[in-house]
Amino acid sequence: MKKAVQFSVTGNPPDVVELIDMQTPDVGPDEALIDVEAAAINPSHLLTLSGSYGVQPELPAVPGAEGAGIIREVGVDVTNVKIGDRVMIPPYSGTWRQQVVVKAEAIHIPLPATGDPIQMAMLMANPPTAWLLLKTVVDLEPGDWVIQNAANSAVGQYVMQLAGIYGLKTVNVVRREGMEDFITGAGGDICVVDGPDLGERVKAATGGAPIKLAIDAVAGEATQHLADCLADGGKIANYGLLSKQPCQLWPDDIIFREIDLVGVWLTLWIRRDSTLAERQAVYGELVGYIAEGRMGAQVEATYPLEQIKDAVTHAMQGGRNGKVVLTPNADA
Ligand SMILES: NC(=O)c1ccc[n+]([C@@H]2O[C@H](COP(=O)([O-])OP(=O)(O)OC[C@H]3O[C@@H](n4cnc5c(N)ncnc54)[C@H](OP(=O)(O)O)[C@@H]3O)[C@@H](O)[C@H]2O)c1
Repeated sequence: MKKAVQFSVTGNPPDVVELIDMQTPDVGPDEALIDVEAAAINPSHLLTLSGSYGVQPELPAVPGAEGAGIIREVGVDVTNVKIGDRVMIPPYSGTWRQQVVVKAEAIHIPLPATGDPIQMAMLMANPPTAWLLLKTVVDLEPGDWVIQNAANSAVGQYVMQLAGIYGLKTVNVVRREGMEDFITGAGGDICVVDGPDLGERVKAATGGAPIKLAIDAVAGEATQHLADCLADGGKIANYGLLSKQPCQLWPDDIIFREIDLVGVWLTLWIRRDSTLAERQAVYGELVGYIAEGRMGAQVEATYPLEQIKDAVTHAMQGGRNGKVVLTPNADA
């Protein structure tokens, strides 16, 4: 028997998660058994637990869409991975558990044996989201400016780091004072606190440089604040609903300034809009940066599965300075 987290109903996340003993199924001929090393708690997981994410699993389910692990056992027909390999656990496998069995053919992304497993565990969702936001919405040239809110989030950190690698400059909007060192430490150029006069303050900070792309994780009035910073014809890429409010955008901006609002969802890119070869190329690039230490997200705390309710409560708190990550086998 191995430990796993399960939820049978949706609701307040700490109330609906429970620790259970789970029988690990036999490994079929085309399957692999993975020991989960680490799995982050992301806002999308909290939305899933509360029943308000874009896709919901059949219940009961094990939460956790991403993680890193070591192959412990393989079926007789498996040739693409071997015992001892570190791999990116296939998306949406339910990673908040000690062991998971997956189809081996779904394992496409090898991870370096050395390197921090916690950083590797955060590869699947947020780094490629940052890549999608910077690479697929607007054509950007080195020297161009982009603006983003929730800039101290994990995605925000990856956006700053990738922007630096691609020669872009970033205006980074946060919702609280005192984040300048955090933002410059992550490679951001300018740090500003959100507010109704954001457009004027950003213009002063950049010297009026045109901004073609705004990256919005917050929605609500924060979307309009980003629009106020954009050059005419600029695009807002909304990819999050942190405020739980509808995106606000004045018709004047849509009509007279041709400001465009589009959505970006990694799940669609994985399931519909990319080939396996494209995904392997993107993940391969990102793994390289993470292994070299050029990309990474701050981690505030790690928890064993036994403390899942505390971990989820912690992850729901604002004002964190990094991720909350589960390490299911740390004490095993
Ligand atoms: N569309 C996609 O494909 C996709 C993929 C991955 C992630 N996402 C989204 O990306 C966003 C960031 O995820 P993450 O894992 O990087 O987050 P994270 O590291 O857990 O950080 C959460 C961030 O949200 C901020 N925040 C929380 N509530 C807020 C509010 N009401 N208004 C403004 N800011 C708020 C926090 O600010 P403080 O530090 O001040 O509390 C912090 O910067 C989430 O919305 C997530 O769902 C979307």
